Amino acid sequence: MVGGGASVRFWISPVSMFSTVVLSCLIFRLGAVGAQTLYTSSRWIVDGGGDRVKLACINWPSHLQPMLAEGLHRQPADAIAAKVRSMGFNCVRFTWALYMATNDTLGALTVRQSFRNLGLDDYIAGIQSNNPSIVDVPVLEAFKIVLASLRRNGVMVILDNHISTPGWCCSRGDGNGFFGDKYFDPDLWLRGLHRMATLAIAFDNVVGMSLRNELRGPRENVEDWYKYMERGAETVHAANHKVLVILSGLGFDMDLLFLRDRPVRVSFSRKLVFELHWYSFSDSRDAWVDENLNQVCGRISRQKTRMSGYVLDNGFPLFLSEFGIDERGTNENDNRFLTCFLGWAAENDLDFALWSLQGSYYFRQGVRDMEEFFGVLDRSWTGIRNSTFLQRVSAIQSPFRGPGLQDTNLPVIIFHPLTGQCVVRMTSRSQSLKLGPCMQPQAWIYTPRKKLLLLGTREYLLSGGLGRPVTVGQGNTSSWATISDSGMHIATEVGRAIGCLDVDREMNVVVSGCKCLSGDRACDPSSQWFRLVDSSRCG
Ligand SMILES: *[C@@H]1O[C@H](CO)[C@@H](O)[C@H](O)[C@H]1NC(C)=O
Ligand SMILES: *[C@@H]1O[C@H](CO)[C@@H](O)[C@H](O)[C@H]1NC(C)=O
Repeated sequence: MVGGGASVRFWISPVSMFSTVVLSCLIFRLGAVGAQTLYTSSRWIVDGGGDRVKLACINWPSHLQPMLAEGLHRQPADAIAAKVRSMGFNCVRFTWALYMATNDTLGALTVRQSFRNLGLDDYIAGIQSNNPSIVDVPVLEAFKIVLASLRRNGVMVILDNHISTPGWCCSRGDGNGFFGDKYFDPDLWLRGLHRMATLAIAFDNVVGMSLRNELRGPRENVEDWYKYMERGAETVHAANHKVLVILSGLGFDMDLLFLRDRPVRVSFSRKLVFELHWYSFSDSRDAWVDENLNQVCGRISRQKTRMSGYVLDNGFPLFLSEFGIDERGTNENDNRFLTCFLGWAAENDLDFALWSLQGSYYFRQGVRDMEEFFGVLDRSWTGIRNSTFLQRVSAIQSPFRGPGLQDTNLPVIIFHPLTGQCVVRMTSRSQSLKLGPCMQPQAWIYTPRKKLLLLGTREYLLSGGLGRPVTVGQGNTSSWATISDSGMHIATEVGRAIGCLDVDREMNVVVSGCKCLSGDRACDPSSQWFRLVDSSRCG
């Protein structure tokens, strides 16, 4: 799906567009979405009426040793749930440890006892003052209290069985990786899934269950994957007909390739979803700084499409259930990854869950009160760690297209992943273009002759030459083509040279010399990265 020109799949002649395309703009409905039953319809997740519901989730861990949703010593559960909504997410991927559900001794520990047993007594006062109702209830009850709080705040939930033994996850040799590992008894796992699927019946905001996070390790094999995942799926569906059943692949949730040859066989339909994780370190450690950025972006994006993204074309939704970066902005490998990633996620318009919500952990890997630099909340659990980062991610929170949102003649918008913004007109009559919010960007028709026609007008995107602003107007029209391995340079001929769309310091859209298309590792081309995204959004 990545590569020269491949992103444009609906070419329309300018003649037909005047009559039909104008009507296709998406009207956003951002009301409360908590309680519903979801289904699948080919690659889309839809509501009972067949309209698309995009899962824009954020991970909220509850699977570490205390078995309590993180942060409840700092803020009331309701305040955190409301914050999730106010940041534009409609859903939480809520993690749980298998043994909490299957070991009655563990599940019956009160929150107070659970913290005491770990020598974490000093958290109890904070939990008491922020969430008095949970201190002396069993951890499994506290889990339900948080589910109820998310429901009150209109937040959908995906329950995710993250690990067996409560604690930080995941490594190859931790005994939690694959069926038959020391802590991963398949029968116990099925019992736990049954219990949690049953528990979820009372919560109509629980819309899906992820059967197991990041299968991995030396025991991994395809035969057992089918054997147990099919059983797990049947177990969940039998206990709870409502929830989507979400299956992770092999290799830390990065490999769905084996499904090409052999479909999953289950007795029910319209409920199966697959999931994918993608971090900067998912590939080789420093891939994003060791290679030219266009080339590594192209190479790894194509690999993701080949290993996992292809399920979309085979008629299944793909839930990108973990991605994230160090939000301090100090990890160059992460920074480069994110810009490429956002282009891919927008183009494919994926359902997703950002890693992560938590500003800190009670107790992780032996460390108390560990800060999480991947968390959108800071240590206080009220402030936002990096609003620039959140703004970029917000570009993919609303759907671009899908059932109920589109007609067949879909225009494109021009998305700029580095800023999370889109190309907009300064004013309705203005000839120049700049970057602005993606909620109501300018929409374009990309014509067979590679012109960009402004939707509903007879005006085209025009190059004014190197170093000059682009404009919209009628005149001598420019052609635009995606070039470079990333597929994100949008190039035009400028005299005898080639220029690329770019932005200047004031966020005006300009044409400048195309940057480091190949070879150069140090150069960062991403100010010139734009993605033509099929979209019903338009201004
Ligand atoms: C349940 O958990 C407790 C506490 O970790 C442990 O001592 C016990 O062996 C577990 N029981 C079973 C049946 O695994
Ligand atoms: C937010 O991230 C950007 C890089 O994306 C970085 O330049 C900036 O310093 C970060 N801000 C904070 C407050 O960490």
